[in-house]
Amino acid sequence: MAKLRWGIIGTGRIAQTFAKGVARSHTGELAAVASRTKAKAKDFAKTHQVTRAHGSYEALLADREVDVVYIATPHPQHLEWTVRAAEAKKHILCEKPLGLHHDQAVEMIQAAWENNVFFMEAYMYRCHPQIARMIELIRAGTIGDVRAIKASFGFAAPYDLESRLFNRSLGGGGILDVGGYCTSMVRLIAGVAQGKPFAEADRVSVFGQIGPQSGVDEYATALIVFPGEIVATISCGLRLQQENKVRIEGSGGSLTLTNPWTANVNGGETSLILERNGEASETLTVTSGPLYALEVDVVGRHIAAGDHQAASPAMSWADTLGNIRLQDEWRRAMDAPAPFTTTRPVAPSHLAQ
Ligand SMILES: NC(=O)c1ccc[n+]([C@@H]2O[C@H](COP(=O)([O-])OP(=O)(O)OC[C@H]3O[C@@H](n4cnc5c(N)ncnc54)[C@H](OP(=O)(O)O)[C@@H]3O)[C@@H](O)[C@H]2O)c1
Repeated sequence: MAKLRWGIIGTGRIAQTFAKGVARSHTGELAAVASRTKAKAKDFAKTHQVTRAHGSYEALLADREVDVVYIATPHPQHLEWTVRAAEAKKHILCEKPLGLHHDQAVEMIQAAWENNVFFMEAYMYRCHPQIARMIELIRAGTIGDVRAIKASFGFAAPYDLESRLFNRSLGGGGILDVGGYCTSMVRLIAGVAQGKPFAEADRVSVFGQIGPQSGVDEYATALIVFPGEIVATISCGLRLQQENKVRIEGSGGSLTLTNPWTANVNGGETSLILERNGEASETLTVTSGPLYALEVDVVGRHIAAGDHQAASPAMSWADTLGNIRLQDEWRRAMDAPAPFTTTRPVAPSHLAQ
C-alpha cells in the first residue's frame, strides 16, 4: 500500500511533535510543510527531513504531492484553512478545537462533506489502545453500572499574555485548549455506559475564573448530568497543575486512567487501575506505539479503507459537534468573553453520522 503523503500547516509546538509521529507511523510519510515564513518552513523541513518547504499555506494546498493536510495553527485559523484545504480536495486532520464554536465546526464539516474529503478533529488520545481497553471494561460490566466520572486536564503555563493560551485574539482560554478533552471523554464514557458511542448532557452547572488581565477563562469546572443519572465532574485550566486523570466510579468498583491524555508520546506502557468493591486493586498495563503515530495510522487506515466519509472510529462528526456545543455551553455559562455561538443550531442530518 502506498503511504499517505502528509502536508503540515504551521510550524509551532504541536506541529513538531506531530511530524515525529508521521515519521514513526506505518501509513504516512512527510511530504511537505508550510509556514507563513519561508525560512521557518525550511528549518522545519531540515529538522524533520520533510521533502518540500512552502513559504505560504496556499502553496502547500496547491502541492499535488500532498494527499492529507494536518492543520496546526492556533484555533481561530482552523476554519479558514480547513475550508480551503477541503476545496483543494485534500483530506484533513485539524487540531482541536475544530473552531471557536459550534457554528464554525458545522461550516468546516460541511466543506469536507461537499468536497468528499476525510476530516477529523485531532483528539489523539482517542487513538490510544487504553481507550479501547476502557470501553471494553465498561461494556463488560467490570465496574458495574457507571454512576460518576471525574476528569481533569490542567497545567501551569507561563503567564504570557501574547501566547495563544492567554491571548483572546488567538482563541485563548482553558476550555477551548484542554477543556474539550474532558468534555469529550465524559461524553464517551457516559455513552458507552448506555450502549451508545457518546452521550449528550441533560444538565450542566459551571464555575470558572476569567483572568482580569487576560480576559480568558484561566481555570474552570463543570458538573454535568447525563441520562441515566450519570454525574461527571470535570475541570481544566492554564494556570493550575491539576490531577490530569480520569476516574470512573460504578456500582461495582472504579477504573482510573492514570495518564489519559498524553500517554506514550514516544511509545511505551501506561496503566489503568481497576478497583472492584471488596477486592485488592489491580494494575492493568497497556503497551502502545508512539501516540501521534497511532493517530496518523488511524487516519491512514480509515482513508485506505475506501469510505473516507464514514464516521471516523476515533472521533465522528456528530461527536465533535456535540462536544463543541458542550464547550460553548460551559463558556457561555461562565460569561467567557471570547467569541462563541449564542444559538444551538441543529446540524444538517447528513452531518450527524
Ligand atoms: N492534540 C494535541 O496534542 C495538541 C497539543 C498542543 C496544541 N494543540 C492544538 O494545536 C494548535 C496549535 O497549538 P501549538 O501549541 O502548536 O501553537 P503554537 O506553538 O503557537 O504554533 C502555532 C503555529 O501556527 C502558525 N500560525 C498561523 N497563524 C498564526 C497566528 N496568527 N499567530 C500565531 N501563529 C500562527 C505558526 O506557524 P508559522 O509561523 O510557521 O506559519 C505557529 O508556529 C492549537 O489549536 C492547539 O489547540 C493540540
